Amino acid sequence: MIKGQKNSVGTSLLYEQVAGEIAGLIDQGTFKAGDRLPSIRQLSRRFGVSINTVTQAYTLLEDKRLIQARPQSGYYVRSRVPEIREPDLPSRPFILPTTVTISELCHQVMRNMMRPDLLPLGSAIPSAQNLPIDKLNRIMASELRRCGDDAVIYQMPLGYERLRVQIARRALVAGISSGPDDILVTSGCVEAVLLALRATCHAGDTIAVESPFYFNFMQMIAELGLKALEIPSTPRDGISIEALRYAIEQNSITACLVITNFSNPLGSLMPDERKRELVELLASHEIPLIEDDIYGDLAFSNERPSAAKSFDRSGLVIYCSSFTKTLAPGYRIGWAIGGRFQAKMERLKLMMNIASSSPPQLALAEFLANGGYDHHLRSIRKIHARNISQMADAVAHYFPEGTRMTHPTGGFILWVEMPVGINAMQLYHLALERGISIVPGPLFSLANKYGNYIRLSAAVWDDRIEQGIKTLGELAHELLPV
Ligand SMILES: Cc1ncc(COP(=O)(O)O)c(C=O)c1O
Repeated sequence: MIKGQKNSVGTSLLYEQVAGEIAGLIDQGTFKAGDRLPSIRQLSRRFGVSINTVTQAYTLLEDKRLIQARPQSGYYVRSRVPEIREPDLPSRPFILPTTVTISELCHQVMRNMMRPDLLPLGSAIPSAQNLPIDKLNRIMASELRRCGDDAVIYQMPLGYERLRVQIARRALVAGISSGPDDILVTSGCVEAVLLALRATCHAGDTIAVESPFYFNFMQMIAELGLKALEIPSTPRDGISIEALRYAIEQNSITACLVITNFSNPLGSLMPDERKRELVELLASHEIPLIEDDIYGDLAFSNERPSAAKSFDRSGLVIYCSSFTKTLAPGYRIGWAIGGRFQAKMERLKLMMNIASSSPPQLALAEFLANGGYDHHLRSIRKIHARNISQMADAVAHYFPEGTRMTHPTGGFILWVEMPVGINAMQLYHLALERGISIVPGPLFSLANKYGNYIRLSAAVWDDRIEQGIKTLGELAHELLPV
């Protein structure tokens, strides 16, 4: 046992030992899912270690998702939620580009996401209750007073310089070295991606994308007259480099569009090595990579993952992001770091809408400089991590046996695989009748895939949301084939 053992390598060894002991007790079934674990004080006496050591051990087990803290109540063993299967990816998949058709369904789902009368289990936007609204409002008011003219003139050609300086400083954390003039402020990440597609492709070209993939970009690809080539992706590693390599050999691919960190909907975090391989593979074929890193600041671990752009040596990576998931979706402020395509994107932006709205740029610049952005990120990450884990537990509890889901380590989206035979489209319609909006899986592919998947958003967790998950679970039970 631990008591009396000398810790030769600092406290880390000791708390890991304590965590190992507790994990062992859970493994053996001494403590089962839902059981309350001994208090920190009890364990500290039992193991003869400090309160701090037990607290660290419990934190480690929380990070490993073995246990869960409940406010004012203590630590509990989590239910084991089966993780979504990592698909066996064929290294030579049958891959053909598909012409995208704009779907009425997609528009309907997006409209429903914003309906205030529906429970928002579908929309991937942060909850207003978790955003620093008062502070942003105060900053906006004082910046409008302080900056006067700047708030009403065009911030062109690239956007408000003070904001671009702040963005360039923050890009360093993702491994990107850039100056303010490398940054083009856009109207959200969607405009950044649109400009990137327009700067790199022409109608009829083929774009390689992940599968499953964020449905709004599918629609954008369609609108531009492009074809999408779906490359298999896994929750652990993201887009399959092997399948992409094969696809490049077999097809003429003009650009590749990837959500590298906590993708939508899989929540995949591409390991650095895979990001490097992706950038090098595409560069060796002179194919631009359009990187969407909109969720990158939302890692639960507080360690901001790097961007694929950080491995770019040839200027072929166009980095796109925004403040939609972290601060203010309605400000509509994003940015692109366009590399070789920067000048062309700037011209396109001027032609399309000249510049993005000035007042939110002023407010965001000040917020990033002095508003406590890092503090806000720490708080929102914690909230999302807790929400995801509570929602995952509820899905495990209420959905039919055989349901699986992703275990994302950032963002706030869950991708749920229901037993084969449960029709996600039917579930979507039944849920709407019960006042709940979700996103059905088939929207994330053009190839009739994901018929038994749904995407859930854990931006909020409260009793109403839990009740919503319960209702969805009951509906899923009703849809089980007999
Ligand atoms: C991957 C991804 N990119 C872009 C967007 C939209 O970004 P914005 O609101 O900044 O245009 C979303 C929103 O859901 C998203 O999930």
